[in-house]
Amino acid sequence: MNRSNSTPEVVEPLYTPEVERSTAPVYERLKDVIPEVEWAVHAPYIAEINRLKKELNAVLLVHNYQTPEIYHGVADFVGDSLALARKATEVDADIIVQCGVHFMAETTKLLNPDKTVLIPDLGAGCSLAASITGADVRRMREQHPGVPVVSYVNTTAEVKAETDVCCTSANAVQVVESLGVDKVIFTPDGYLAQYVATQTDVEIIYWEGACEVHERFTGQELRDYRQSYPGIRVIAHPECPPDVLNEADFVGSTSGMINYVGQERPKQIVMITECSMSDNVAVEYPEVDFIRPCNLCPHMKTISLPKILNSLRYTQHKVEIDPAVAARARRSVERMLEIGR
Ligand code: 13P
Ligand code: SF4
Repeated sequence: MNRSNSTPEVVEPLYTPEVERSTAPVYERLKDVIPEVEWAVHAPYIAEINRLKKELNAVLLVHNYQTPEIYHGVADFVGDSLALARKATEVDADIIVQCGVHFMAETTKLLNPDKTVLIPDLGAGCSLAASITGADVRRMREQHPGVPVVSYVNTTAEVKAETDVCCTSANAVQVVESLGVDKVIFTPDGYLAQYVATQTDVEIIYWEGACEVHERFTGQELRDYRQSYPGIRVIAHPECPPDVLNEADFVGSTSGMINYVGQERPKQIVMITECSMSDNVAVEYPEVDFIRPCNLCPHMKTISLPKILNSLRYTQHKVEIDPAVAARARRSVERMLEIGR
């Protein structure tokens, strides 16, 4: 019996001829991004996870930054934070496994208080969510009386509970403008806040949190890409610093970036964001040449097929939120979802 909160030792499923046959169509799609020797390791997990999902009436919500074997092998729904939050309100399943980071699993739990919501690794955090507490938000309110608070979903439930309305990178400008005020407090991503300020007349007072993945990109890197690959399209996530966004042809959420590739079908592109995005999108658009910068999100990468399998086998790790906090946090997420509905 598992008495601790840690992952029990994985009983490895085997790469049998049946597993090889049943997963062959998935591998056919992934062969350009996953070497054959690696497939023998992934395939047994993919087969067993897909079998268990049916048995348990479980669904997997998978963020765009998950690795290709998860994204293309076991996901029921893929998307950016906004799409996954919306999907979480529609899911008809007993168990939801969130393959992303902890704040995403909390958002799903807020919207599904009666369902079992699991995250395969409790250590899947986020530098933005870790940068601010509920007390910090209360202090900002005291410094700016009467100014509403918009918080990025990359926050804990405790921070969402202190927030008027949440936003994601896909709808931040729309959410800020929906309040009909001339000033808002925006937490916790300072770079996203500065980007929003360039897109609206609303004054933005912001918290200086940053994403440890996107803050590492520089404008010089983008100029170097343009010099090395003449004609290349450069698209970036709004968590990047302003000098990066100024150099980009397009700025958008992870799904916004994927849609850009689908609509524009450029010959060559570089996506200034987490590594796995390019691999996942390249599978859908083999005719597009992706130049792949590699900034890994260590939190997203704590999720793996063996941990997803354990999550289903042992119903771990359950996401629980203090009911008093949850009631207030849920309001700020629901208010966001009502905008643009
Ligand atoms: P998206 O909402 O654009 O998917 O972003 C989430 C995230 O954590 C990006 O770092
Ligand atoms: Fe958080 Fe950045 Fe990782 Fe996204 S990429 S989960 S914002 S640390």
